[in-house]
Amino acid sequence: MAKLIVEGGRKLKGELDVQGAKNSALPVLSATLLCRGESVLHSCPAISDINASIRILRYLGCNASMKGHTIVVDSSNMNRSDIPENLMAEMRSSIVFLGSIISCTGQAKMYFPGGCELGPRPIDLHLSALRKMGVSIDERYGCISCKVKDKLKGAKIVLPFPSVGATENIILAAVLAKGTTVISNAAREPEITDLCEYLTKCGAEIYGAGEGTIIIYGVESLKPAEHTIIPDRIVASTLMACASVTGGDVTLNGIIGSHIDAIVPLFEEAGCVVKIKDGRLKITCPERLKAFKSVRTMPYPGFPTDAQAVMMSVASVAMGTTVFVENIFESRYRHIEDLTRLGANIKVAGKVAVVEGVRKLFGAKVSAKELRGGASLVVAGLSAEGTTEIEGINFLERGYEELEVTLSNLGADIRKV
Ligand code: EPZ
Repeated sequence: MAKLIVEGGRKLKGELDVQGAKNSALPVLSATLLCRGESVLHSCPAISDINASIRILRYLGCNASMKGHTIVVDSSNMNRSDIPENLMAEMRSSIVFLGSIISCTGQAKMYFPGGCELGPRPIDLHLSALRKMGVSIDERYGCISCKVKDKLKGAKIVLPFPSVGATENIILAAVLAKGTTVISNAAREPEITDLCEYLTKCGAEIYGAGEGTIIIYGVESLKPAEHTIIPDRIVASTLMACASVTGGDVTLNGIIGSHIDAIVPLFEEAGCVVKIKDGRLKITCPERLKAFKSVRTMPYPGFPTDAQAVMMSVASVAMGTTVFVENIFESRYRHIEDLTRLGANIKVAGKVAVVEGVRKLFGAKVSAKELRGGASLVVAGLSAEGTTEIEGINFLERGYEELEVTLSNLGADIRKV
């Protein structure tokens, strides 16, 4: 298995373009099923979750190919409505295809997405919403079989939790449904807004994306469109974390400042200077960071759970104490055992983790257990004295495009073997 070897202590300096957002490209790829014809998507990240989605689209009968960061999808010849277990197992977020497959074929068959490394990943909110829109769903043997008698119909749906995936599946089911759908307590993540921008270009009638209530008026049909995916705010946060633990001075191109409003103040509290202008972010970091007081993960626009792990690595080497509260996922602290192996001082009690910053981390052999936890080990390795070996980098490759190349270009001593 490939692994990353990091020699810590090198300052990061330089400039780079931030990759397109994985969590926007995935639902947008699902949405291309709804428009018969050729859609062109720019700024798609070259990562394994995107490759998995392209395999699913091809399995469903679409023409899908990626050249550089542009994906062209022609769903005119879609001829299947099921996703086989092996393709579902490759990527948990393949559940985001459910709404669009039902919407364009009147049926769908897929498997419960693999529980993933963040604890159980229930889809009860997705299924109860689809039932309200007229879908009959049979859940047996780990398989979900969906059928709509005639057409999906609009419904009033109140989400008990602003689930990102459930919001996306409801939107994908509602745009071609009969009548109006109102989603209350909808997720407000920028990736939802980006999905709705693509669908609006295709002719959908969606109002309120990015707010708590989204209204969708079903239309007869959608036409394909060209769209550029928004930059990945979690990758940007990860790169800022890498710069901050190395006393670096890094410029990130392609930033939407409002998407990282909950992140930037933490770096400033830690003593970094962050300047954002015309889509470029410059972060200049001190030799020694001061601890930011607390991090509570919340639905957007609160602090994103996907940035919790990398910020924990920053807190691990800052002066002072930081309290983390993980409110979104049940077990999203699996990186703590490996950070501890590197010398971090972290105490966990349920969803609370207290980090006492230490002067130095020391390189060791560690292994990634999931995507963002793996990224936190890279951040820690860049700061640690000596050599850090990171296994399980297949997790990293799900969401980060050649992270070791990106970091080497900024002066890090990191290589994949
Ligand atoms: C999306 O996952 C993202 N994935 C996750 O990013 C991100 O962490 C998460 O949103 C929260 O922002 C993609 O967009 C592909 P949720 P999703 O539904 O849709 C519970 C990454 O690192 N829940 O908002 O699965 C669930 O168990 C990934 O890029 C239910 O109980 O997130 C979790 O505790 C990791 N029932 C919470 O809600 C449901 O039916 C948030 O889940 C659905 C969710």
